[in-house]
Amino acid sequence: MPDAEGTQDHHRYYFDIAPSNEPFPLRGLNALDWGMKNRLSNIFNPATGRTVMLAVDHGYFLEPTTGLERIDVTIVPLLRYADTLMCTRGILRTTIPPSFTRGVVLRASGGPSILQELSNEEIAVDIEDAVRLNVSAMAVQVYIGGEFETKSVHNMTRLVDAGNKYGIPVLGVTAVGKNMVRDAKYLRLATRICAELGATYIKTYFVDEGFETITASCPVPVVIAGGKKIPEHDALQMAYNAIQQGAAGVDMGRNIFQSEAPAAMIQAVRKVVHEDMKPEEAFEYYQELKYGSP
Ligand code: 5RP
Repeated sequence: MPDAEGTQDHHRYYFDIAPSNEPFPLRGLNALDWGMKNRLSNIFNPATGRTVMLAVDHGYFLEPTTGLERIDVTIVPLLRYADTLMCTRGILRTTIPPSFTRGVVLRASGGPSILQELSNEEIAVDIEDAVRLNVSAMAVQVYIGGEFETKSVHNMTRLVDAGNKYGIPVLGVTAVGKNMVRDAKYLRLATRICAELGATYIKTYFVDEGFETITASCPVPVVIAGGKKIPEHDALQMAYNAIQQGAAGVDMGRNIFQSEAPAAMIQAVRKVVHEDMKPEEAFEYYQELKYGSP
């Protein structure tokens, strides 16, 4: 038992120091509970309010994509450079060392393979398993304009309800169906629907025309997917443009793990995201890491 006697003269109340009341750095999320904010802080670097998410969940509907055949060999060495890993529970349990203590964003929807209608997804993870895996968020695909649009929106709202119960954020992923035009008008619609219906943050695509209207009209943070592999300089330029136009980070897969030098690429992406490094400089940095300093 602590001794109640003799300590009373030593209290310090610091009357001259105002109580700290730091605002939460992520847009629209200040009213969330402590657990949600704590999990989000495992995704978004609290110093910058931005994130480099490494996406390796492609196998949830595709064959083992180039670069993901052996995640233990190609991806595990990159984990030290990622703010967050986005993956399925199968890969998490089989391949990711539990000593990885940064955020995990768990792929929580699925069902159809690439051979079928992709918008026909279901929720693919029980909330209790997400809690058991100690994940920082759950990701769900939302197919606005898709054949099973309402079903995919309903998947998201059910995950949001389950996540709210346990303090787990939900990442709404705007999936663009084969027949949809991937432009700012469409992505404003898709991101806004996800946010209005409760997604904690949204993943969408960068578009050259009007991307800033998507981030401006979405009341929660927006991150961009990397998309198909493009030359490293172009991918860094895209990440830079997105960040400068209001994105809170990237959720990048193929443009990192299919790069000729994945470790160099993810470090260059970090410079763009967290330090606003210009793409030319970031590309030089990539080359220095790839080939060694002159
Ligand atoms: C699949 C996804 C992927 O995580 C996403 O596409 C990111 O990977 P990439 O940068 O390779 O596009 O959500 O639906």
